[in-house]
Amino acid sequence: MNLDHLDAEKLSFESLAIHAGQEPDPLTGAVVTPIYQTSTYKQDGVGGTRGGYEYSRTANPTRTALETCMAALENGARAFAFASGMAAEDCLIRTLCRPGDRVLIPGDAYGGTFRLFDKVMRAWGVEHTPVRQTDLEAVARAAAEHRPRLIWAETPTNPLLAIVDIRALAALAHSHGALLVVDNTFASPYLQRPLDLGADVVVHSTTKYVGGHSDVVGGVIVLKDPAHADELAFNQNATGAVAGPFDAWLTLRGIKTLAVRMDRHCANAARVAAALAEHPAVTSVLYPGRPGHPGHEVAKSQMRDFGGMVSFRLAGGEEKAVDVCGRTALFTLGESLGGVESLIEHPARMTHASVAGSALEVPSDLVRLSVGIEDPDDLLADLTRALA
Ligand SMILES: Cc1ncc(COP(=O)(O)O)c(C=O)c1O
Repeated sequence: MNLDHLDAEKLSFESLAIHAGQEPDPLTGAVVTPIYQTSTYKQDGVGGTRGGYEYSRTANPTRTALETCMAALENGARAFAFASGMAAEDCLIRTLCRPGDRVLIPGDAYGGTFRLFDKVMRAWGVEHTPVRQTDLEAVARAAAEHRPRLIWAETPTNPLLAIVDIRALAALAHSHGALLVVDNTFASPYLQRPLDLGADVVVHSTTKYVGGHSDVVGGVIVLKDPAHADELAFNQNATGAVAGPFDAWLTLRGIKTLAVRMDRHCANAARVAAALAEHPAVTSVLYPGRPGHPGHEVAKSQMRDFGGMVSFRLAGGEEKAVDVCGRTALFTLGESLGGVESLIEHPARMTHASVAGSALEVPSDLVRLSVGIEDPDDLLADLTRALA
């Protein structure tokens, strides 16, 4: 971490978000990390690079700032920034797995992650087995049977907001010789730090809360220890799906306000979940902050707060769910999540269409909300109107 004059070990999350990897520019003193929009670098003689920069696929100072900051926020050894969350996942799997390996994947996960395993990795000999990870005995049985290379977890899950016990899953993975990868996209490092709970690797779609403004697509991998860092750096450069300098800069800009945004996302989501629970058209609300949620106690033990995502099911089935998604005004109908503006979507027909017919299929009466940071009264009025 580049905090020569500060004691980085003692800085809190909020301070690290603004300062880690983001020293004022040594040349001009610019307080904000510049966008180093360059593909290549002048060398002081053959092999004489300045600070190791030779070509921007291999390394770029704006991307380095983002990677340093994310490593600090997740309390990891090294971070690597990619062009998207999927590019990060692809590079990670190809670094850690070989043909013949198997990965235990969640029984409820982002549809694109399932598609990557099901449609891409399988063709290259990396197999997968879906298991509901809230059932630790089922995970233990599957691990004993398949001896997986990786256990891949998401918590809270997308879109059912199930909570997986990261400490327990890490112990289980390690006792079977597997590594635990946690997709921390829904929580963000402000709410949950999987590496501190025993996970080996964290992946993010930084497109979501980390970027936070729905204006950039990106992904990050954070490693707990440096064991696989050289291989991952090699593959990041060799395969080349890196974050560009402007994307890295936008993501860094978003990170500076992550803590305050997440506090407001959580407060708004809690109010929305409480209001939906009282609504006669709603049969169930899936939000880990509700005391009746099956993962509430585990969530309390591993998360600072419960996040900004709320899903709910409707008495009127698929037709009603699709209808509600088309009737909100402030909640914009759209895929993605984690931006300052509220979004609504129908997972079965939108983000999770790729899991139809699989073990990960989602209920058709389900609606997913990404609760933004607008005025909560305006958000509640919008939902009440749409549900009427
Ligand atoms: C939990 C989760 N992981 C990974 C991804 C993939 O990230 P990206 O869209 O940035 O490729 C998404 C995208 O929605 C996601 O929700």
